[in-house]
Amino acid sequence: DGPDAGALRTPIVAVLGHVDHGKTSLLDKIRGSAVTAGESGAITQHIGSTAVPLDVISKMAGDLVDPTDFDLPGLLFIDTPGHHSFSTLRSRGGALADIAILVVDVNDGFQPQTLEAVDILKRTATPFIVAANKVDTVPGWNPNPDEPIQVTKEKQSDRASSDLDEKLYEIIGELSDNGFSADMYWRVQNFQANVGVVPVSAETGEGVPDLLTVLMGLSQRYLKEEMSVDVGGPGVGTVLEVKEARGFGTTVDAVVYDGTVREDDQIVVGGLNGPIVTDVRALLKPKPLAEIRTEQEFERVEEVAAADGVKIAAPDLDSAMAGAPVRVVRDQDVDEVIEAVEAELADIAVSTAEEGLVVKADTLGSLEALSGTLEEHEIPVVRAEVGDVAPRDVRVAGTANEPTNRTILAFGVDVLDDARDLADQEDVNVFENDVIYQLIEDYEDHVEAIET
Ligand code: GTP
Ligand code: MG
Repeated sequence: DGPDAGALRTPIVAVLGHVDHGKTSLLDKIRGSAVTAGESGAITQHIGSTAVPLDVISKMAGDLVDPTDFDLPGLLFIDTPGHHSFSTLRSRGGALADIAILVVDVNDGFQPQTLEAVDILKRTATPFIVAANKVDTVPGWNPNPDEPIQVTKEKQSDRASSDLDEKLYEIIGELSDNGFSADMYWRVQNFQANVGVVPVSAETGEGVPDLLTVLMGLSQRYLKEEMSVDVGGPGVGTVLEVKEARGFGTTVDAVVYDGTVREDDQIVVGGLNGPIVTDVRALLKPKPLAEIRTEQEFERVEEVAAADGVKIAAPDLDSAMAGAPVRVVRDQDVDEVIEAVEAELADIAVSTAEEGLVVKADTLGSLEALSGTLEEHEIPVVRAEVGDVAPRDVRVAGTANEPTNRTILAFGVDVLDDARDLADQEDVNVFENDVIYQLIEDYEDHVEAIET
């Protein structure tokens, strides 16, 4: 007999990749297959995430998975709508995602947000596999719904099969250019040393059994130790979004990755002006199988246990920050919990130089992703903060000695009118974009223009 399954928590799987490459469709397919398998009730939809129990996964994976090989409870998938939300999903002192699926459209290959995702995975040392999606769009492809990829690939014409191989090798080449040794998943012996590429179609379900099998195998083999948690301890989590909820005021959508959160708990949440100490008023979950992003109707629960997504309603959450930690106080000293939250926030705070650019971003996660990329480009930063571009940011940028440093990079935030006016007067350049690579490219073009 293996270790007690109850003591292992569900691994958190982040699904990330470039816009439109099929992240949500892939999760929909997994949900849909569960419905077809008569298991719809078993799938639980959480705030921002979907939990799929092990027996459902093994049913979908068919012969590829032997459930007796596994004792993890299942997988908790987190969909990431576009890049910057994913970086928000990163927890402090380790990735919130235990493992990840990088979705790449086989026809489109690596795109800017694919690269950004790869950078984040590299920095956080998060193990991942690649879902090479939309194989059904290869010219001449004959779909065999829900079949394992090697089975359906063998039934294709030589032309279609070799077309697919060509596209897959392009993706493997891109991974290698970015420092990852990769291969078709069935050739990978050691998933810690090599990234496995799984060809799939979120449309037809081909390759989905393989994807689930590889994910389960990966988590079982490499994550078991990390999945042993203090089941009943005070909850620890990360804020994904700060949102208004009718009747509850400002709430936070969080993923709890350790312990439990109860309706009567005191919590500490990272906020724009430091830690917020407050009491849970309600723990809310969407009604079963309802689509999370459109769901208005919640039901109250008394407790959530890791790993799980939940909406937390509590007073004073207006200044809570996406990407910030949430910690339950319970029988701990509240000051120690505040310190722990402060320490986590300080970890995220970006190291700054004496002279450099001013960086503003919409969430802690995006600030971190942007700063990490700037560091790789050896671009110094003097101030990095979450929030809209305000006049004081312009004044800081205006004190720079180097003309190229009289610059503000604004990622996914607004530039306040008086800040814009002041920037014009002070000759400070403000670059705005929602794509990190674009922002940096614009800045580098600007530097080149100044220097030549
Ligand atoms: P964002 O959330 O905007 O980043 O996009 P996403 O990655 O979640 O992509 P989404 O699942 O919304 O899919 C984008 C489009 O691609 C939709 O029109 C899907 O129907 C289509 N699509 C996704 N997967 C497949 C696939 O395997 N085959 C085909 N033919 N189309 C697909
Ligand atoms: Mg999506």
